[in-house]
Amino acid sequence: MAKHIVVVTGSPRTGKNTDRAADAFVQGAQQAGHTVYKFSLAQHRVGGCIHCMQCGKQGYCVQKDGMEEVYPQIEKADLILFATPIYFWHITAQMKAFIDRLYALYTMGRFPKNETGKEMGLLLVAGDSDPSVAQEPLSFFENVFGKRLGWQNKGTLLITGTSRAGFDLEQEGFLQKAFDLGASIQ
Ligand SMILES: Cc1cc2nc3c(=O)[nH]c(=O)nc-3n(C[C@H](O)[C@H](O)[C@H](O)COP(=O)(O)O)c2cc1C
Repeated sequence: MAKHIVVVTGSPRTGKNTDRAADAFVQGAQQAGHTVYKFSLAQHRVGGCIHCMQCGKQGYCVQKDGMEEVYPQIEKADLILFATPIYFWHITAQMKAFIDRLYALYTMGRFPKNETGKEMGLLLVAGDSDPSVAQEPLSFFENVFGKRLGWQNKGTLLITGTSRAGFDLEQEGFLQKAFDLGASIQ
């Protein structure tokens, strides 16, 4: 079944590892027949939630920024790929701001809770070569989106070692793995 997929990238750098791997995922997903909307947090300004709680009263988030464009995409998405570098053993501040702003959909009841209404994928990118660097972000996504919100994880790709001299995303096979992850979505 063709799905609508939203790919959210949390790196402030366009054209670097997270962005390139996300693009490879997009190509794979499109080849598998899915429609994909990519939202780059390097290209769109997304402020942190200001806890005004107007979303619960007005039915929408009152902050006017990049989220305006992506909210309708999130609502209709079957699957969301969270693609983020690891900063200080966790997701980037940009990705956390994006996730906090999903509270507007959650509080308006447009964000299924404990239903398999949505699926997710994870693409984590770390400078370190030791995979344990991703322990906290992996637990975060599995606990919050998996256990608490009931989203099914359709696949995780952990890219490590980007800080190593001579690291090459393509040569190390990570672009192919990202493509394959996109192509594996059913
Ligand atoms: C502020 C900051 C903190 C970082 N913290 C970590 C870290 O805790 N562990 C790690 O493996 N890499 C860390 N890195 C390296 C990035 O994860 C790595 O450079 C990654 O490739 C960045 O993604 P990008 O190439 O898509 O921008 C950090 C980089 C920055 C700028």
